Order: sequence, then structure tokens, then C-alpha cells
Amino acid sequence: MRAVVVYESLWGNTARVARALADELGRTMSVRVLDVESAPGTIEDYDLVVVGGPTHGFSMTRPSTRESAVSQNGAPRAPTVGIREWLARLPHISVPVMAVAFDTRVDTPRLPGSAAKAARHELRSLGFDVAMKAKSFRVHGYEGPLVDGELGRAVEWAREVEAVLRGAPPPPAEE
Ligand SMILES: Cc1cc2nc3c(=O)[nH]c(=O)nc-3n(C[C@H](O)[C@H](O)[C@H](O)COP(=O)(O)O)c2cc1C
Repeated sequence: MRAVVVYESLWGNTARVARALADELGRTMSVRVLDVESAPGTIEDYDLVVVGGPTHGFSMTRPSTRESAVSQNGAPRAPTVGIREWLARLPHISVPVMAVAFDTRVDTPRLPGSAAKAARHELRSLGFDVAMKAKSFRVHGYEGPLVDGELGRAVEWAREVEAVLRGAPPPPAEE
């Protein structure tokens, strides 16, 4: 089995979750972890696609929210491409490969909207099998760090994803 984890991250929190997921998935399959800026324009020959990004403005980031993160919130740099733009350019797939989406979001206040839900919607439109619900991981403030225990939740979720990939029924959504 082969998996690819494509992530976007301004401060590194989503990247840490992506690596935790990849490490766990990597116990049973071959995994590539790619920053979205260096991800290829097509996804081929994978059994599982994992897409993750930070929630900005109740959804996936936009060029304007990434620039604002730098100018208003002190992010080190704005990625030139986010998962929104990457997904928008992906071609429709012919075989329904399993895909899951995750995001990071602030812990407080609890805001509506989620980059992962928006990404999952795009993945479904592209023909992926999105049987599993979107997953969120929480950070303190805009810059993080991740809330205690979130990397452990990432490991648990990776195990659930792997089980579904191997035929288990998808678990119910938490929220
Ligand atoms: C411009 C901007 C808008 C944001 N909007 C939201 C939001 O709508 N909901 C939310 O929960 N977090 C929001 N956040 C917080 C981000 O989700 C947080 O910065 C991100 O999870 C950190 O992940 P990263 O280190 O991978 O960039 C926003 C952050 C920025 C900079």
C-alpha cells in the first residue's frame, strides 16, 4: 500500500500533525510527506491520499489570508500555494482512491467552518472516496503550539484511517 500526505502550514503546526500521521501510517505502508508547495500536480499510484491545512477565515486558506497571517499575525512566511489552489488544479481521478482531509484550528474561541470539511468537499468533487469525515486538530492561538494530546489524537486517527483503507466501516464523526 502507498500513501501520500500533502500539507500546508504557516507556523508548522499542521506540518507536525502531517508528520505524526505519516509516521503512524508508515508502520504498515509506504508513505510520502509533501509540502503542498512541492506537491505534484497529479496524484497517481497511491492507495490513500491525506490532505491537511490550517483553517483560515472558516475554510481553506486563500492568498489574502496567508498574506494577512504574515503582515498581521507574524507568520514567518506565506506559502505561494495552499491546498485550496492545489486541489483546484488536480485533475478528476478515474478510480475512486480513498482520501481523507484534516485541518488545524484554534482551540478557543470555537469558530464554525473548517478547512478539512472544505477540502473533503473538493476531494469528493474530484472523484475520491471520502467515506471518512474531516478531522480537526486544535492549536493555542494562531501560531500554536498544538494543544496537549493532539499528536496522540493524530496517531489514533491514522490507525482509524488505515483500518478503513483495509475495509473496516468508517467510524462516526466526533462533532
Ligand atoms: C488569517 C487567519 C485566519 C484564521 N481563521 C481561523 C478560523 O476561521 N478558524 C479557526 O479555528 N482558526 C483560524 N485561524 C487560526 C489558524 O487555524 C491557525 O493559525 C493554524 O491552525 C496554525 O496552523 P499552522 O501552524 O500549520 O499554520 C486563522 C489564522 C489566520 C492567520
